[in-house]
Amino acid sequence: MRILVTEASGLLGSKLVEILLRKGYAVYAGYNENKPKAGLPVKLDVSNEGDVERAFEISRPEVVVHAAALTNVDACELNKELAWSINVVGTRNIVKLSKKYSAFLIYISTDYVFKGDKGMYSESDPTEPVNYYGYTKLKGEEEVRLLEEHCIARTSVIYGSIPAAGKVNFALWVIDKLRKGEKVRALTDQWNSPTLNVNLAEMIVEIAERRLLGTFHLAGATRISRYDFARLIARKFNLDERLIQPIASNEISWIAQRPRDSSLNVEKASRTLKIKPLDIHRSLEILRSELECHP
Ligand SMILES: NC(=O)c1ccc[n+]([C@@H]2O[C@H](COP(=O)([O-])OP(=O)(O)OC[C@H]3O[C@@H](n4cnc5c(N)ncnc54)[C@H](OP(=O)(O)O)[C@@H]3O)[C@@H](O)[C@H]2O)c1
Repeated sequence: MRILVTEASGLLGSKLVEILLRKGYAVYAGYNENKPKAGLPVKLDVSNEGDVERAFEISRPEVVVHAAALTNVDACELNKELAWSINVVGTRNIVKLSKKYSAFLIYISTDYVFKGDKGMYSESDPTEPVNYYGYTKLKGEEEVRLLEEHCIARTSVIYGSIPAAGKVNFALWVIDKLRKGEKVRALTDQWNSPTLNVNLAEMIVEIAERRLLGTFHLAGATRISRYDFARLIARKFNLDERLIQPIASNEISWIAQRPRDSSLNVEKASRTLKIKPLDIHRSLEILRSELECHP
């Protein structure tokens, strides 16, 4: 299988490239600013159609995993033009070229397409983003649906053992602060479905191999608040839980609004896939063993 991954240096993409290479596939690692450590690097700014054309010419992919996005929620709110050009125009460019090369496209989307008023959203629930990031990712989904051979994979709060593209994820941030004996403030009134990058990447690989079409919620199997997630991390890593302080979302001055409960129902993925969405306990155990191997 020839496969092009955009966001190959990111938190999800770097893991995906690693797993695909291990399976012996020809992996083209798309990046914009941070050159990936693995795979055949292909430089592309997804918002530039010429770049995307060149990347497809080089890689001639049978499968594309499009995960590149402007993911900083507040930056999207502040710079709507940039968010639109990367998340919507960029996705449109990828769709256009996927069609030209008859490639199967897997688009990575987000729990932030939902309003957050009920939680445990299933694939068929109505979408209603509360911020511009979620809106652009939803518009990206609409572009992808124009392609027959597609899969939309919505996920939530990705974490993993390696800081990717210069970004430290929530779990690593909590572990680092607690190890230094510093206080961690975590929200008690926001819930989602934290997702270990390796579990997500393995589910995406299965979807690529089986060419599964449609929309899937690929996330961790546990709905949890940030506060309880942080406490669980402390317990699993034998760190001082008392350093974690509860905080309410109205105490934080965000630029963009956040959904209150955007947790995802993963029943469809559990039913359909051989690789199952993992619960938080198992995921944190895997994270712990990964960190023991690469501290
Ligand atoms: N992180 C989460 O908690 C979360 C939750 C739900 C859904 N998602 C979705 O999952 C996907 C991956 O998220 P992530 O958090 O792993 O990403 P990330 O670590 O924030 O990385 C963003 C990636 O997008 C690439 N990128 C940004 N602008 C680009 C452009 N113009 N052209 C090409 N590449 C560009 C960056 O490449 P360079 O570094 O090379 O510039 C980087 O690899 C995204 O689609 C996101 O919407 C993430």
